[in-house]
Amino acid sequence: MTWSAADIPDQSGRVAVVTGANGGLGLEVARELARRGALVVMAARDQAKASSARASIGSQVPDAATELQPLDLASLASVREAAAAILAGHRRVDILVNNAGLMGIDERRTEDGFEMQLGVNHLGHFALTALLLPALLGSDGARVVSVTSTGRHFGRPLDPDNPHLHGNYDPWRAYGQSKLANLHFALELDRRFRAAGTPARSIVVHPGFTGTDLQARSARETGGRSQRFFSAAVRRVGMTPAQGALPLLRAATDPGAVGGALYTPRWVNWGPPVRRPLFGRSRSREAMATLWEVSERETGVGFDLAARR
Ligand SMILES: NC(=O)c1ccc[n+]([C@@H]2O[C@H](COP(=O)([O-])OP(=O)(O)OC[C@H]3O[C@@H](n4cnc5c(N)ncnc54)[C@H](OP(=O)(O)O)[C@@H]3O)[C@@H](O)[C@H]2O)c1
Repeated sequence: MTWSAADIPDQSGRVAVVTGANGGLGLEVARELARRGALVVMAARDQAKASSARASIGSQVPDAATELQPLDLASLASVREAAAAILAGHRRVDILVNNAGLMGIDERRTEDGFEMQLGVNHLGHFALTALLLPALLGSDGARVVSVTSTGRHFGRPLDPDNPHLHGNYDPWRAYGQSKLANLHFALELDRRFRAAGTPARSIVVHPGFTGTDLQARSARETGGRSQRFFSAAVRRVGMTPAQGALPLLRAATDPGAVGGALYTPRWVNWGPPVRRPLFGRSRSREAMATLWEVSERETGVGFDLAARR
């Protein structure tokens, strides 16, 4: 059976936080959740882009309930501020979609000195999720959705002695590492939710090859040959953002979506969202344990699964 946006159940009364909601897949996810009645907190970096994204949702979904929340995942101070504001405004968070990301860019550092792709794609989301736990655990069945990529296949597990790839940087190595981190984070988080006896689920998705700003931004920023190739290719053969958002929406809303599972397009990069098996090092407990230790060490944020309010 093909799952589509028409299968999203009523989300009235639910609070969703979507990172990177000012464009690409995040905007699609925010729009569809709002269309189904969720109150959507659009957590985004570029505020001009966020205002026009919000206005575009309002023009298509006149009764949409949306809020803008500034969030720069390349700054732990900004992550803390955003989490504090969300906790102050909402007793519960039912859906957290950790979507924002960067791909294949030249070497840069976050405000806290992290390698940029690891910092934005993984460490910022790790800290945000940990800080939002009191509200996630206040839900009667929260979903945390992490967004990986086929790039994880060429990523290596974090080296605890050099997670920021000092002296060893390559744009694709860094993207692969961050996207493998997204997968391992999601699986380990789900294991921890279950071990703590909470009803929350953590689910990981790959959207498929989708025409957003992801490839164009990396081509603009680097001018690299492979980046330009992907940017041109996605314009020709990529899925639309509405199609690419479906695995995220399924993980966030399908009552049957399974915690600790991976959802991707049926033909890896194209097609409707389906559950896919996970093999081999995708399930490495050792890599997940290392990821957790390094992430807590780097961010200074720990996971307290007793943090209900
Ligand atoms: N499109 C694909 O083919 C594809 C395939 C596999 C995986 N993915 C994953 O899908 C996710 C969404 O990407 P997309 O395709 O929608 O790309 P996109 O159109 O480039 O959107 C990326 C989003 O991330 C946000 N972002 C970047 N840096 C940020 C920061 N420091 N703090 C907060 N937000 C930040 C951007 O906001 P600003 O403009 O404000 O920076 C934007 O909203 C990413 O995790 C990506 O790895 C995409």
